[in-house]
Amino acid sequence: MGQIIQMFSHPVIAIDDYPDIDAIADQFYGKAMELMEEFPDAGLISDAWHSGQRARGADDIRRYGFTSFHSVNLARREDFAFMNQVALQVFAQYLQVVGKAGTGMRLDSAWASVYGRGHFVPQHTHPLSHLSMVFYAAATDGTGQLVFDNPARGHFQHFYPPELCWMPYRYSIQPKKGLFVVFPSYLTHNTEPHESDDYRVIYSANVQLDFARLTDADKQR
Ligand SMILES: [Fe+2]
Repeated sequence: MGQIIQMFSHPVIAIDDYPDIDAIADQFYGKAMELMEEFPDAGLISDAWHSGQRARGADDIRRYGFTSFHSVNLARREDFAFMNQVALQVFAQYLQVVGKAGTGMRLDSAWASVYGRGHFVPQHTHPLSHLSMVFYAAATDGTGQLVFDNPARGHFQHFYPPELCWMPYRYSIQPKKGLFVVFPSYLTHNTEPHESDDYRVIYSANVQLDFARLTDADKQR
């Protein structure tokens, strides 16, 4: 019997058993609602996302959805320390799973997004960071999947049509309250439209890993 060699992988981990995560999710939900009040000119998602449009008022937020990304960096906000600290612990778990335990890192940015009915985020990556995460403070079953595109999709499409191919072009994750998903920041992803009247509330964060190899000149100083 042959053995499959998993030559190259792009590890993504999902964590849904962080201790007391329900209470943390509820606390973040409340804080995200406060951010919507605090920043009526916040960034928008859905069709307004790629152009970086800002809200002209509550109507725009209702139409497109909310992101605090352009308004404030939650990684620097003391009142979001409860969430940022958990995020750093979850990033550390990722590094442990992939065999890089103890690697230093810096939480560069963090933001909240609130989706109403029909809202989504188009395909993107998270530039200038190594690892990224999403955390679902609220989500509705059966809708708004997080979809990763296979970085080798161009090659896999060689086996066409898709039903002929045994290697998936895309991979979908169903969001649920209390779920963390950590992924390499270069992975192209999007979210499917959120088809529910209940808000979907998300915390997102990026980290850079510490890496400093001294040059010979540095060592002589
Ligand atoms: Fe993203």
